[in-house]
Amino acid sequence: MSNSLEINQVDELYFPNIIPDEELVIQQNNYENIVNQFKNNNLETWKKLALENLIWEKPFTRVLDDSNAPFYKWFDDGELSISYNCIDKHLKHNSNKVAFISVDNEGLSTEINYKELHSKVCQLANGLLSLGLKKGDRAIIYLSHSVETIIAMHACIRIGVIHSVVFAGFSAQALSDRIKDIDSSVIITANGQKRGDKTIITKNIVDEALAILNNEHNNKKVIVLNKIEIQINMNKFIDIWWHDLTMNMDNRIEPIVTESEHPLFVLYTSGSTGKPKGVVHSSAGYLLGVIHSLKLAFAVKDDDIFWCTADTGWITGHSYSCYGPLSLGITQVIYEGIPTYPNHSIYWDIIQKYKVTVIYTAPTVVRLHIKLDSQLPRNYDLSSLRLIAICGEPINPDAWKWLYSVVGNNCCSVLDTWWQTETGSVIITPISNVTKLKAGSCTFAIPGIDIGVINDYGELLNNQTKGYLVIKNPFPSQIRNIWQDSSRFLKTYFIKQSTGEFYYLTGDSSIIDKDGYCWIVGRTDDVLNVSAHRLGSVEIESVVAIHSNVAECAIVGVPDEIKGQAIFLFVVCKENILDTNQENQNIMKNEIIQLVAKKIGPIAKPDYIKFCENLPKTRSGKIVRRLLKDIACGVEINQDISTLEDQSVISILRNN
Ligand code: PRX
Repeated sequence: MSNSLEINQVDELYFPNIIPDEELVIQQNNYENIVNQFKNNNLETWKKLALENLIWEKPFTRVLDDSNAPFYKWFDDGELSISYNCIDKHLKHNSNKVAFISVDNEGLSTEINYKELHSKVCQLANGLLSLGLKKGDRAIIYLSHSVETIIAMHACIRIGVIHSVVFAGFSAQALSDRIKDIDSSVIITANGQKRGDKTIITKNIVDEALAILNNEHNNKKVIVLNKIEIQINMNKFIDIWWHDLTMNMDNRIEPIVTESEHPLFVLYTSGSTGKPKGVVHSSAGYLLGVIHSLKLAFAVKDDDIFWCTADTGWITGHSYSCYGPLSLGITQVIYEGIPTYPNHSIYWDIIQKYKVTVIYTAPTVVRLHIKLDSQLPRNYDLSSLRLIAICGEPINPDAWKWLYSVVGNNCCSVLDTWWQTETGSVIITPISNVTKLKAGSCTFAIPGIDIGVINDYGELLNNQTKGYLVIKNPFPSQIRNIWQDSSRFLKTYFIKQSTGEFYYLTGDSSIIDKDGYCWIVGRTDDVLNVSAHRLGSVEIESVVAIHSNVAECAIVGVPDEIKGQAIFLFVVCKENILDTNQENQNIMKNEIIQLVAKKIGPIAKPDYIKFCENLPKTRSGKIVRRLLKDIACGVEINQDISTLEDQSVISILRNN
């Protein structure tokens, strides 16, 4: 890895000082206190936070068990209910407080308060029990982003069932892979969903996924939410309507109490090999990390109207819609639709109408809005906003400044928050009203977390040198394992130092600048980040390779104005297609695109396909992706190509 400082340093420091001085002093003191407490005694401080922020059925006596590092256990002899911590604890004083303002695809809204949420969760939990589900069983949730998805997630955890939400844009094949890997007893889905002007018949995708599994899905049940007006097939041995299952169910059930380390959920994410990884999260540690970030970095208040735009199919929707904000008892907006339907102003309408105070979104959404109409927000009253947060991919300073000035009217903190499915909660982030901001930097590690940058030999680097971003100490919300694959967990994520400590490898490269600000450069592995969604290049390549005329192929990410990265596919065909007419090439391109959409989902469709005779390879036969990336981006190749088996490949590819 080159070790030069390649970032554009931005000198401006933004510090929206709009809150009253007394409040600011309290926040700054609070921040300094907590930094000092962590510095003095990291574990003692996590202990204090765990006691303050979680309600324990049986308090823990041990904070961290690192005897089998890096299989860490936090608060492991304690017991609690996450469902209680997110819902029941609000029933005494806040039962009528709105939990969700739900805005559907057409822009129509309904509200559900904490009491109603509790009832619906309990009814579904009782329904799941009636199907024979018990603690430790798994449920797949294949639903679009909606309150029902949150209800399903909480119904599972209320009885100790481990949920795994699969993004509803994934294909039948991707869904069946996950059902198989996690061996789920039920699949909770809907008959269909509307997304913009499209209607998706979700239940058909589930049927197809089960058909792929053949007999392996014996005894699985499918719970179907009647979400839209369409006809679907119901198999009386497998399928059951959500409303039939819950109709006569009691709207109360005591939440199960579990040990702190009981897996709360598994969420699949892409890695550098073909098979997605089932990231296992714990109960207590996970929730504590999320609460800590919301209280400290977002400075969440009781009267906030919090809108996380991320789909529940991804980690952001888990941590900052389903779990964190509920545990703090605040009101959230949940919007099922897309940013461009019914028109381009839907986001600004929502903020204005529901007086959203905090929006948590992704840079890809920001870039889309800039492109659609960068001045549109100025026509709306967005003065309710106090905080704008983003995550999921690097943001370019121009987009950052647009958020700050046009959306935030120069008086909102902009939090560029860095984290991952594996970290469970925000790790590197400014602290609202406290941290001086630099456009494009996610600033500093949240108190309690110690980050560093290492080189190829695992040695810590000084500031201003690019290297691999690592987290140096264990922290409560970190990944506990990969479902059924402990050796991959160890191999992928940890590097042991001579001191015996394990550093967590993030897979990202970064630079810490002279002032200590962290700048994320991008992934160091073969993971693409398309519209803030992680996709493994190997995962897509293995699907393309199924095509009967594909001899070999390689995927690289290229910069894209809206999506952050676009997918560029190089294909070497078995039968030479380059000499044939354009029509043949187009047919094959189309077949490849359809194949990827079918096997993974539309999000993974290649944006560009280039047919070629050969790929650049080392003498040991390894495809050199960094060269393909330069070719795809059309930039000058200044890299060493002497290690290539056949150097002429490069000029042929360039001229082609
Ligand atoms: O490369 C980093 C990028 O997204 C990756 C994690 O993706 P995922 O597990 O899907 O979680 C996304 C939501 C947290 C990281 O390895 N990433 C995340 N946040 C940022 C980021 N890149 C730059 N800046 C960020 N703020």
